[in-house]
Amino acid sequence: MSTAILHLHLGLALLLFAVLLAGRIPRLRAFSAIVALLVLATGLHNFATRMHLPPPGWHMWIGIKTLLGLHVIAIVLLSARGTATAEKLARWRKGALVSGAITIVIGLYFSNFAR
Ligand code: HEM
Repeated sequence: MSTAILHLHLGLALLLFAVLLAGRIPRLRAFSAIVALLVLATGLHNFATRMHLPPPGWHMWIGIKTLLGLHVIAIVLLSARGTATAEKLARWRKGALVSGAITIVIGLYFSNFAR
């Protein structure tokens, strides 16, 4: 069950990153918001289940990953509100892509190579 949710988290996270990269959030507002909330829910589930017997550095790196992940989710939800200007959306998108890329690398490292 936990492995299935970890993989679901991976799929949803990559989908969210792809929508962000393609600049499609303004056109897929409800879809993006739902995917962002599902990434949050599955991420919290992973946090609760994967902290058992953590590899060295897990708490520090997953703490950093969670903060960066929350940054991505906040930007997606704010962009999905549809009230920001085009300049603001472009600036937010760049920051969220950087945070998202780091989040993906840390997540993949800890779920595939650290244990
Ligand atoms: C605040 C929300 C989030 C929390 C609490 C969270 C938490 C976690 C945890 C605990 C893991 C498992 C690490 C381990 O195996 O020890 C994980 C994996 C992962 N996370 Fe997140 N995450 C969040 C948001 C995100 C976001 C926004 C992205 C990317 C845009 C992301 C991408 C990934 C990826 C790619 C993996 C590896 C999954 C796999 O290999 O199957 N996460 N996450």
